[in-house]
Amino acid sequence: MTVGGSNAPESAAPSAPRMGPWTLSGPFALSPMADFTCWPLRLLAQEFGAAFSCTEMVKAKFVAQRHADTLNSLARHPGERLVGGQICGGDPDELARAAGIVAHELGFPFVDFNIACPIRRVVSEGAGGGLLADPPRVERLVRILVEAAAPAPVTVKMRSGLDEQNITAVEVAQAAEAGGAIAVALHPRTVRQGYGGRADHEVVKAVKAAVEVPVIGGGDMRSAADAVRLLRETGCDVAYFGRAATGQPWIFRHAMALWRGEEASPETEAGAWLNVFQRHVEGLLEHWDERTAILHTRRLAREYAAACPGGPESSAARRFYERHKQVESRAQWEDAMAATAQDVSGAGDLQQPTV
Ligand SMILES: Cc1cc2nc3c(=O)[nH]c(=O)nc-3n(C[C@H](O)[C@H](O)[C@H](O)COP(=O)(O)O)c2cc1C
Repeated sequence: MTVGGSNAPESAAPSAPRMGPWTLSGPFALSPMADFTCWPLRLLAQEFGAAFSCTEMVKAKFVAQRHADTLNSLARHPGERLVGGQICGGDPDELARAAGIVAHELGFPFVDFNIACPIRRVVSEGAGGGLLADPPRVERLVRILVEAAAPAPVTVKMRSGLDEQNITAVEVAQAAEAGGAIAVALHPRTVRQGYGGRADHEVVKAVKAAVEVPVIGGGDMRSAADAVRLLRETGCDVAYFGRAATGQPWIFRHAMALWRGEEASPETEAGAWLNVFQRHVEGLLEHWDERTAILHTRRLAREYAAACPGGPESSAARRFYERHKQVESRAQWEDAMAATAQDVSGAGDLQQPTV
C-alpha cells in the first residue's frame, strides 16, 4: 500500500521508505506540535508531500476519560491518509485504554507513544521524557500499547536522553523495538535542553545503527536542504519537519524535489503564499470555535510572515503581521486578508526584500 502525498513515478526517486505495513510516498513527515498540528496543517502538509503526520500529544488519562477537549484535539479530516494519534502517559491501564480508543474508536492508522515531552510535571510523573531513564519500562509499556492498539501499529517518539550525562537514546530505541514498535522517531535534544541549543544529529546516526526498524530523525530542520542532508548523513529513513513547516507547509514539496534530484521550485510567488495561509486559517475556523481559531491565526501569522516571499524583514511581511497580530474576529481577519491581497496584487514589495 502506498500512502502519503503526491505519488511520483517510482523510478524517478530514490527508493521510498517503508514503515510497518506501508510504503511511504517519500521520506519527509510532519512532526507533532502542540497547537499547530491539528488537521488544517496536517492536510496541507500531506498535499505538499508529507508522507505522514501526527496529532499533537494528548494525555492517555484524558483520552481514557473521553474528555471533550482532548477528543477534539484528535479530530481528523476525512481527506487525511496516514496520521498517528499521539498519546503520553506512564500508567499501563490508562495507556492501554487510550491506545484502544485512538486505534479502534477513532480509527487512527497508528498510535504514536510520546516519550519525549520535556514539561516538568509530565516528566516528574514518569511519563513523556521521564521514561527515557528507564528503557525496560519503555519496553513493557510499548508491549502493552502494541497489544491494545492491534492491528494498528505503534510508533515511538523520543529524545536523546534526560540530559547530557544521560544519553539513553540507543537503549530506549532498542527497548521500543523489542516491545514491538514499528518505527522510532528521535528529536535529538535532551529533556533538559527543551527546545534550545543544538539538535545532535550524531545521536540519530547512532540510533539508526542500533535498530532494524525505520528511524525518523529530526531537530533543526530549517530548510529542505537540511532534511535531505539529515537523511544522507545519518542514514535515517524519514526526516521530521517541526517548526519550519508551521508557516510554510510547501517545504515538503521543496524537500521532495531536492530528494528526487529535481530543481526545487520555490513556493515564493506571493499569491500562492497568501492562498496557502488563507486555506490554513479557513481550516482553523472549521476545526475550532471562532475565538480559538482567531487566536491561533495570530500566532500562525508570525510563522507565515517569516516565510513571506519578500523576506521576513520586508515591509510587506511587517504589514501582514501587523494587520494580523491583533485580529479579534473572522470579520477582522477577512479585512486583514483583503488588505494583504492588495499588497500582493501591487506585487513589487512582496518580491523584493526591503531593508
Ligand atoms: C510548539 C511546539 C510544540 C510541540 N509539541 C510536541 C508534541 O505535542 N509532541 C511531540 O512529540 N513533539 C512536540 N514538539 C517537538 C517537535 O515535534 C519536534 O520534535 C521539535 O520541534 C524538533 O524539530 P524542529 O527543531 O525542526 O522544530 C513540539 C515542538 C514545538 C516547537
